[in-house]
Amino acid sequence: MSLTGQDKYRKGFEPLLENVTFVAQNDVEGLRAAVNANTCAIVLEPIFGEGGILECSEDFLRACRTLADQHQAALIFDEIQCGLGRTGKMFAFQSFGIHPGIVPDIVAIAKPIAAGVPLGAFLSKEHFASAISPGQHGTTFGGGPLACRVGLEYLAIVEEEHLLENVVKVGGYLHQQFEELVSKYAATRETRGRGFIQGLVLDIPARPLVEQALAEGVLFNATQDTVLRFLPPFLLEEKHVDKGIRVLKKLLGKKRRKSTVETGLAPSPAALAN
Ligand SMILES: Cc1ncc(COP(=O)(O)O)c(C=O)c1O
Repeated sequence: MSLTGQDKYRKGFEPLLENVTFVAQNDVEGLRAAVNANTCAIVLEPIFGEGGILECSEDFLRACRTLADQHQAALIFDEIQCGLGRTGKMFAFQSFGIHPGIVPDIVAIAKPIAAGVPLGAFLSKEHFASAISPGQHGTTFGGGPLACRVGLEYLAIVEEEHLLENVVKVGGYLHQQFEELVSKYAATRETRGRGFIQGLVLDIPARPLVEQALAEGVLFNATQDTVLRFLPPFLLEEKHVDKGIRVLKKLLGKKRRKSTVETGLAPSPAALAN
């Protein structure tokens, strides 16, 4: 609660931890100004999920690592939404193609880890893990045998059935479909994300579309008012994407071509007629 920048989640739970400084995403100068010898940790999502599928820049991630090292702070990635395969790599921080890679000291993971059975975890480098021992910060159901067994099974299935390859392949197809929508539909603005963590930014409120899609038998989600958020299951196939896109096209209204200025293309006679 103390670490989310979104007021709606903090409201009603105050007082929260003090001495938390928020820095805008990708504001390297702001980060440098905020981090000093008293900084205990830098915490961020490499891809903001609730925030609207916004990716951190390579420069920002690199600056986080450098500053954390410089001040002996822990670099903590919250990969609860973007991790565990959603980007096509096991961890989102591995999907940025940065060389050498930016590796955090601690990673928080949850959502898919036990395929729907409640389970969360944080993974830590030894240096930081030694600060806490098993049971010291326990929770009634934490580490329960059923959830952990399902978690192991989930990880084995992801590997054995090559599901991350599916995420890359079908995620690429999904991205292409969104790009096409953005080039054709006036109510769309841009696509964001990668793999199976993608967003379609609209010029209209997203929530009504989610409700209308549900009536058509397709489950979408909305975040940040105007962003449709897609975090599909790793088993998704191209035919499922096709169905979703068909419904989206219907809901996005008349197939209006964007103006010449927006697309850089000459308007078709159909667009002029619109
Ligand atoms: C990025 C991120 N961090 C943390 C959480 C909270 O996770 P949990 O419900 O496992 O505590 C969520 C839940 O949606 C999330 O998306």
